[in-house]
Amino acid sequence: MRVIKIGIIGLGTVGSGVLTLLHKNSELIKQRINCEILIKSILVNNISKKRQLVHSAYQSLLTDNPDTLFNDIDILIEVMGTIDVARKHIEYALKNGIHVITANKDLIALHGGELLDLAKKHQVSLLFEASVCGGIPIIDMIRNSFQGNHIESILGILNGTTNFILTLMERENKSFSDALVIAKELGYAESDPVNDIEGYDAARKIAILAAMAFNTRIPIGDVHVEGISKITLCDITYAKELGYTIKLLGMAKEKDGFIKVQVNPVFIPLSHPLANINGVFNGVYLEGDFLGPSMVYGHGAGAFPTASSIVGDLISTINSIDSKNFTWCTCFRDLKVKDVLQTHSSFYIRMTVDDQPGVLASISSIFGSHNVSIYSVVQKKSIEGHAEIVMITHKVRESSMYDSITVLKSLHVIKKIDSVIRVEDEQS
Ligand SMILES: NC(=O)c1ccc[n+]([C@@H]2O[C@H](COP(=O)([O-])OP(=O)(O)OC[C@H]3O[C@@H](n4cnc5c(N)ncnc54)[C@H](OP(=O)(O)O)[C@@H]3O)[C@@H](O)[C@H]2O)c1
Repeated sequence: MRVIKIGIIGLGTVGSGVLTLLHKNSELIKQRINCEILIKSILVNNISKKRQLVHSAYQSLLTDNPDTLFNDIDILIEVMGTIDVARKHIEYALKNGIHVITANKDLIALHGGELLDLAKKHQVSLLFEASVCGGIPIIDMIRNSFQGNHIESILGILNGTTNFILTLMERENKSFSDALVIAKELGYAESDPVNDIEGYDAARKIAILAAMAFNTRIPIGDVHVEGISKITLCDITYAKELGYTIKLLGMAKEKDGFIKVQVNPVFIPLSHPLANINGVFNGVYLEGDFLGPSMVYGHGAGAFPTASSIVGDLISTINSIDSKNFTWCTCFRDLKVKDVLQTHSSFYIRMTVDDQPGVLASISSIFGSHNVSIYSVVQKKSIEGHAEIVMITHKVRESSMYDSITVLKSLHVIKKIDSVIRVEDEQS
């Protein structure tokens, strides 16, 4: 039986999951692919760290010497994270004819194109399924099952931490900061959660998905990013009352030869399939011109789901080694990402105003003069002479929306523009 020798960099959450999966399912995998997978060595940062290994025999494979790792392996699995060090190891592997599998979204979003070109140059494989949505095989779907379609749009709940926080706010009336504390206590948020809550993690993932779906490289700096830290319980309550829920979505659409790529909180109708994806779960909703709508759902992170994607990539690599039938960069187009201000969206606006006659007429007139048309208006409680007005607009040019907000802010009867959140609804 053929033996494939692998090296692993990183034995943290994901690396331990990979080791456990390969240990527990080795017989099944061997029978399925008629090949034995031999782990030759595992590179870690701190060799003397105490570790809970799935079997004590793996202790002898640990090394902190990259030369030992790279000695006589066919495939490298990189699950250490970081950009520069991981990139150095991956480039070394590719240049030396070693196939690579990585879960590193930061590296792939920033340098995926160049690394795929390097892999092609050296005729080796580079796969990265686990870099987006952990255990959900979304990259494989886009690359293979959707090949016959023009993908028209992708909407994704791509970050489990923020989805958990929003779910807790909605279901248990927690404030954003209380929900964040609970997410940290449960290990769903890091001690420095900025990458998750400000949308940067989701931005890298949507950049990767958009590049795959629209066959064009997406510079990460072109992705418009807003996080959830300004979302209040009040907005969550209004959303529910109006028939919506708030989700942090990664969105990518192609229109008129441009790509719209962004991450921001969005009101979606309660009837939308993504509205029911709660807690730490991820989901991606895609529309293809022939397939129509389709959605995948599952664990977007965690040791075992992520290991499932990595081992899937490992088996795909092994199966294509002989034929050299590898997929490299699929970006054969050069589409530009449209400036978000030039794109069109519907908006939810919540503002505090003086409770006096004529205020609504003044607001409508300002919106009217900026071509912002109102879909629905709700005027709420009057407290100490102030009323709360909630509006949803039809689709408007984003620059017009923000210009009208600037003018509204200068009206003395407007006390505060409390929230401006995009709405994704075919009806509005
Ligand atoms: N966690 C998830 O659910 C998840 C999901 C999808 C993708 N990912 C991606 O998977 C990668 C790994 O994430 P993780 O959560 O498993 O990270 P982690 O728990 O922090 O583990 C990182 C591992 O890398 C090792 N390492 C760090 N720097 C190193 C260096 N310079 N040389 C050699 N080894 C080094 C560490 O060694 P020591 O053990 O000695 O400290 C540790 O074993 C990241 O790219 C992440 O974005 C993670």
